[in-house]
Amino acid sequence: MKPGFIRLVAIFSMLFAMFVSASFGGEVEVLHWWTSGGEAKSVGVLKQLLEAEGHTWKDFAVAGGGGDTAMTVLRSRAVSGNPPTAAQVKGPQIQQWGDEGVLANLDDVAKKGDWDRLLPAVVSDVMKYKGHYVAVPVNVHRINWMWCNPDVFRKAGATIPTTWEQFSVAAEKIKKAGFIPVAFGGQAWQEATVFETIVLGIGGAAFFRKALIEADSAALNSEVMVKCLTIFKNIKQYTDKDAPGRDWNLATAMVIQGKAAMQFMGDWAKGEFTAAGKAPGVDFIAAPAPETSGAFLFNIDSFIMFNVKNKDAQAAQKSMARLIMEPKFQEVFNVNKGSIPVRLGMSRAAFDDAALRAFDEFASAAASGALLPSMAHEMAVFPAIRGAIFDVVTNFYNSDMPPEEAAKKLAQDVKDAM
Ligand code: GAL
Repeated sequence: MKPGFIRLVAIFSMLFAMFVSASFGGEVEVLHWWTSGGEAKSVGVLKQLLEAEGHTWKDFAVAGGGGDTAMTVLRSRAVSGNPPTAAQVKGPQIQQWGDEGVLANLDDVAKKGDWDRLLPAVVSDVMKYKGHYVAVPVNVHRINWMWCNPDVFRKAGATIPTTWEQFSVAAEKIKKAGFIPVAFGGQAWQEATVFETIVLGIGGAAFFRKALIEADSAALNSEVMVKCLTIFKNIKQYTDKDAPGRDWNLATAMVIQGKAAMQFMGDWAKGEFTAAGKAPGVDFIAAPAPETSGAFLFNIDSFIMFNVKNKDAQAAQKSMARLIMEPKFQEVFNVNKGSIPVRLGMSRAAFDDAALRAFDEFASAAASGALLPSMAHEMAVFPAIRGAIFDVVTNFYNSDMPPEEAAKKLAQDVKDAM
């Protein structure tokens, strides 16, 4: 073959490759609330993978842990007929968006990727609307963790508590030693996160299910609930005066910097420790929140895709959905984020001890009936009920309302919201 001809073939193939990538490269506008250090690092992985396939990532980050602000913004964009192409939406809300008939069907991606086999049925059920995949899951977060600075505990002569009684003893010592016992962010979703962790610890799995999943009036207005509320309020004296309104990651930073001893938060907090270069088991300890060892309050992040007409945008949506479920993303993202992969059968080699514990307890809790969806993180109840619980919990925490009155109000307001 003549060299000129070979060069021509090479140029032609290059032009063809450019044409292919240009015609398939679409844009996805992705609404999410991952703006803290660890979160941004994690979501960056998805952006990179998508861009490597020739697509464009238009970032639509709405700050605010827990995602309530992001959900308000999403509603208003959707109401004005201009939703983003993809959005971070979880739990029962996926069904609500499905009811509105605006979601793209992801069945072909799911079929090719074998999602039915690679996802636990409890997860894939939530991702489907009327039997069709409309959402793709990203991870499994565990809520009932306590993030401790061992150095602060040591200096205060305190032991990491495994019961709420031990918590008070440790917190007193830490306070006397001049540290802030609990790094706390006074925002409704963070208060609800701590509260539901206490309900799990004090009430146990069966009580949690009755009260915060089935929204049962008798459980909500019960002596056990009064006890949970009392323990919740007891934490307040061990927080600092700047707690109201504080973002969760700033509370984590207090533990990282050795100003505070512990934070009750889901394992996205681990993403902050690792992003700050801290080593698990050395610079920080991840322990189950008091009295919740063996139980697993889960929180699964997922993305829905909105119907779009543009073929390139559709291709980009499908690539995004496929990439999320692929092992590479599942590993790198979850190592950074502090969560564990949602995809079954993944290698555990890259994960630290806290993650390994989460892997094991996810399985054992499922077997013992202590694997429970988080109320605070939109896994368990519809938004109206969650909103009613949030209002009572935050009003109770920030006023001198007696716990008996709060329990009564919980039952009443939840009933009204149903
Ligand atoms: C949760 C979400 C996590 C984490 C956290 C704080 O609702 O599931 O991924 O980001 O909010 O923003």
